[in-house]
Amino acid sequence: MSAAMSPDSFGDGTRVIRAVSTPASPGVPLHHGPVFAAPFHLGDAQPGASGADVYARYDNPTLREFESSMDELDGGRSLAFASGMAALSAVFYGFVSAGQRLLIPSDGYFAGRLLAENHLRRFGMETATVPTADVEQRLRSGDFPGATLILVETPSNPALDVCDIAAVAELAHQQGALLAVDNTTATPLGQRPLTLGADIVVASDTKALSGHSDLLMGHVSVLDEELLSRIKSWRDQTGSVPGPFETWLTHRSLGTLDLRLARQGQNAAALSEVLAGRPEVRDVRWPWRVGDRSYAVASRQMLRPMGVISATLESAEAVRRLLQASQLLTAATSFGGLHTTVDRRAQFGDSVSEGFVRISCGCEDTVDLVQDLGSALSASAEH
Ligand SMILES: Cc1ncc(COP(=O)(O)O)c(C=O)c1O
Repeated sequence: MSAAMSPDSFGDGTRVIRAVSTPASPGVPLHHGPVFAAPFHLGDAQPGASGADVYARYDNPTLREFESSMDELDGGRSLAFASGMAALSAVFYGFVSAGQRLLIPSDGYFAGRLLAENHLRRFGMETATVPTADVEQRLRSGDFPGATLILVETPSNPALDVCDIAAVAELAHQQGALLAVDNTTATPLGQRPLTLGADIVVASDTKALSGHSDLLMGHVSVLDEELLSRIKSWRDQTGSVPGPFETWLTHRSLGTLDLRLARQGQNAAALSEVLAGRPEVRDVRWPWRVGDRSYAVASRQMLRPMGVISATLESAEAVRRLLQASQLLTAATSFGGLHTTVDRRAQFGDSVSEGFVRISCGCEDTVDLVQDLGSALSASAEH
């Protein structure tokens, strides 16, 4: 008799494929298509009384299928949003009130800081910022008394610093704050913040989770029912719900997340070595590279590598020459997609030097990327 495997012992590839599969039943598709509907037939039932869907902004079959997969992968209860910023807004507005303080990363995704400066402040919420690498030590020193929500982004985007989620969660809870972790860069296969003590996971699923650079999507996951109902009421009443097609495409893409991350991580390992071997390239960062200042925490805390690296070239002109000489690298923002992209962050206003680039390693063959990057660097250096 063969022993049945527990779903907990399945590998990542099996878990994501199971997450996009319907239970085996004759005549049922292996993965349902999207349900396009705004209202649903009500008949003579009172809205909501029969348990049937009523109106798609509140709930619908496509959302439920995606969210139950995310429940399983994040280890909590998930709600999908129309973008990562819609998810982040739900967390900020859901858990911070006028007169309360929010702590966010000074080196994380810039739109979070803009939202705090341009909007949260108008509603009387105060924001403090702290570099990701310092958050644990600064909280330990009691530098942010009264912060009721602490957001960390680890690995941070774009500099790829990492903080210890379990240690920060303990410090946050000691001062009565909630800890939210932006898990965009790691994805749920790369890091499980809820099991490390965080209260909230927030992510842009526009990046590696959906992974094809063709849609915007986000989600929030929590452990606690009270937190879930606050986020749900924010989503219901602001209408920041994703449409069924985007939700379905994201869900469908989950099935290949393990394969995509494996190739992206392999490409990041190889390209970070190519960059580190060039005298004209400085500060190559990839948390999984031995010797990187985030390596010790990343390799202990994360479950697998991700495909984003950063490095500093001599100037904006050096980046332009590199891109011109390359056949495979393309200039584009965002990250986590199939294509290898180079994003010069100073042009988006990040406080980094002009030649700083975030490179999102895609799913092309490693040997091709290594050859292309090496020869493009050599060609651009000859100028
Ligand atoms: C770490 C991080 N969080 C949140 C966001 C916002 O996500 P979206 O663009 O899906 O609104 C981004 C976008 O780049 C990001 O990189």
